Amino acid sequence: MGAPLLKQWLKTPALVGAIMPSSRHLAMVMARYAGGAGMLVELGAGTGTITAELVRQHPSVPLVLFEQNRTLAGRLLSRFPHAAIVAECFHARTELLADMPDDAVFVSSLPFRSLPRQIAVPTIASLHRLLADAPQRRLIQFTYQPRAPFNAPSGLVWRRCVTVWRNAPPAGVWELSMQSRSAGNDHQTAITPPAFPGY
Ligand SMILES: C[S@@+](CC[C@H](N)C(=O)[O-])C[C@H]1O[C@@H](n2cnc3c(N)ncnc32)[C@H](O)[C@@H]1O
Repeated sequence: MGAPLLKQWLKTPALVGAIMPSSRHLAMVMARYAGGAGMLVELGAGTGTITAELVRQHPSVPLVLFEQNRTLAGRLLSRFPHAAIVAECFHARTELLADMPDDAVFVSSLPFRSLPRQIAVPTIASLHRLLADAPQRRLIQFTYQPRAPFNAPSGLVWRRCVTVWRNAPPAGVWELSMQSRSAGNDHQTAITPPAFPGY
């Protein structure tokens, strides 16, 4: 399962950002935090580890997958035939989300800290616009860094949800949403102890 990602990482390390897929434990936590979504939009679905868990936990929720790597996107297509798969950079095809519901949730593995600036900047701008359009929308993002995945655009706030230790390397799971939505709902202290013991 790990070899396809390693192979693509060797070609474009900054875009792929990891040599091993996300662990099942990380996938379970990411999918759990996406609960309540009326539509799921996964960014950087890669080998489909998190996708599989999204499908398992939220079987009736429409699913859109963005994966810029055509080899990985092709594998996702055969594994998840009911998902809409976009084999391009997310920021280049956001018009496909014009009719997304107000309660859509983004679930992202994008490696923001290594993405080239010309991709990271428009990607964050696209997320900013889509989240600001509807206060219920959220982005669930993991990072290997001890800080937020990227600086919160104006009007949005990060909350740190939990650390998943059973992942290589351990990953922090974060949620980005409109400031109004997070007010009085700041779970930053949930990091210790983890919200999901055993992960
Ligand atoms: C860390 S890897 C995938 C992790 C995934 N959870 C897994 O287990 O395989 C990040 C993925 O994001 C994809 N990616 C990077 N930039 C992207 C972009 N702008 N739009 C869509 N996919 C992107 C890469 O091709 C790579 O497959």
